[in-house]
Amino acid sequence: MAYKTKEWRNAMRVTVDYNYMMASAIGENGITDKQLKEVKAKADEAFNYVKENRGRDDLYMGWTELPYNQDAIVADIIATAKEIRKKFKYFVVLGIGGSALGPNMVFNALCHLRYNELAPSKRKGPKFYVEDNVDPVRMAALLDVIEPEKTCFNVISKSGATSETMTQYLIISDILKQKGVNVEENMVFTTDAARGNLLKIDDAFGGKIKKYVLPDGVGGRFSELCPVGLLPAAVLGIDIKGLLAGAAYMDGLCSKSTIQRNPALACAALQYITMQQGKNINVLMPYSDNLKLVADWYCQLWAESLGKAQDYDGNTVNAGTTPVKSLGVTDQHSQVQLYIEGPYDKVITFISVDEYATEMPIPHGCEGIPDVSFLGGHTMQELIQAENKATAYALAQAGRMNYTITLPKINAFTLGQLMFLFELQTAYAGAMLNINTYNQPGVENGKIATFALLGKKGYEEKRKEISSAPQGDYRYIV
Ligand code: PA5
Repeated sequence: MAYKTKEWRNAMRVTVDYNYMMASAIGENGITDKQLKEVKAKADEAFNYVKENRGRDDLYMGWTELPYNQDAIVADIIATAKEIRKKFKYFVVLGIGGSALGPNMVFNALCHLRYNELAPSKRKGPKFYVEDNVDPVRMAALLDVIEPEKTCFNVISKSGATSETMTQYLIISDILKQKGVNVEENMVFTTDAARGNLLKIDDAFGGKIKKYVLPDGVGGRFSELCPVGLLPAAVLGIDIKGLLAGAAYMDGLCSKSTIQRNPALACAALQYITMQQGKNINVLMPYSDNLKLVADWYCQLWAESLGKAQDYDGNTVNAGTTPVKSLGVTDQHSQVQLYIEGPYDKVITFISVDEYATEMPIPHGCEGIPDVSFLGGHTMQELIQAENKATAYALAQAGRMNYTITLPKINAFTLGQLMFLFELQTAYAGAMLNINTYNQPGVENGKIATFALLGKKGYEEKRKEISSAPQGDYRYIV
């Protein structure tokens, strides 16, 4: 069944304006129509690669079908979320990387910005926390504010072998046991269908832990629209059908093969052209506190997907650009000076909002002080939007490339569009670079060294190698 009316969906369309990327608007530092034409063949190839391989589990492209193939799962999640809301005072996600950034982004985007501080009657769900680190101080702080026996812990890990998540699991399950709580009643696992240690743990509990599947062909950073993100969102009372409908809508908007008619392909092509020009920094700057964590989620998606040493032909390419998170207007007073006058090594993507959820009129006052009095009679929405436009304009005037993605409003449907836009953009960019977008071989060595340092069986040689590595003299030891 279609989500809301066609008119409503069209009124909620997320748009992309890339005029300030172009030489016609910003002068010699911009992209020319000729350059856009030159990239067309690569863009066509990328479009066809994504189109032809949609849904392929062996290529980790199962994420493309998530907006369409989850009806039964969504119904189950909504029913489970209802029970969780009735039974628990707190909901804690234990996960890291793709298993944490998405749930936190959606929470921040679609819930009250002070959600946990609201009275229970003003919240749709339990207090909500996403724990994605193994800083002992943070873990202790969490334990100071929750009651573990009244908490549902959603352990999210495809592999069940991620040291950080499994450390959290060990600590929490031990606390629950000590409190005499049946661990299986306070846990939900989101994990692989057939493999992974969480399944073994569940076996030890007689298969009694509620489980959701992180589908085979969906990698962590592309998993927000599967149970990884849908369960936490549903617990918060978020319209998860709206998220999926938004993703499907964006998928439809990106069904055309030309840069001019496919916003994700346009963004990927712009990023690709600027990458080739050596612009190595890719700033994402939402002008909305609700969208602040979209930048965190996007940074992982972009960095882990595109930062690759080799391409499919075995060439050393050291691909990727460095994503940077920035927040409008806050970072106008921190980073924008550098963006406008520093090296020509950045592309800035703004996320703008046409209509904020709340309006805040600015009263008249300080009439004798023109620096202040001009603000009176306006609204905070007018101010933030003016500053957004002014920053884009000032960058363009300085010959700095920037483009703007606009959400008519922030809701589940527009957020779903935004996520899918970025996922498609990343997939197209990876295909243009001829790299494997879906693996992360670079993080393995660090994981192995951690295993060795903590004495994991089988890593004895590595431990010796690390402990005998020369220390060098360049240290200050007083
Ligand atoms: O994008 C990815 O695949 C990673 O960031 C993973 O999400 C992260 O490493 C956690 O892995 P797992 O789900 O196996 O615990």
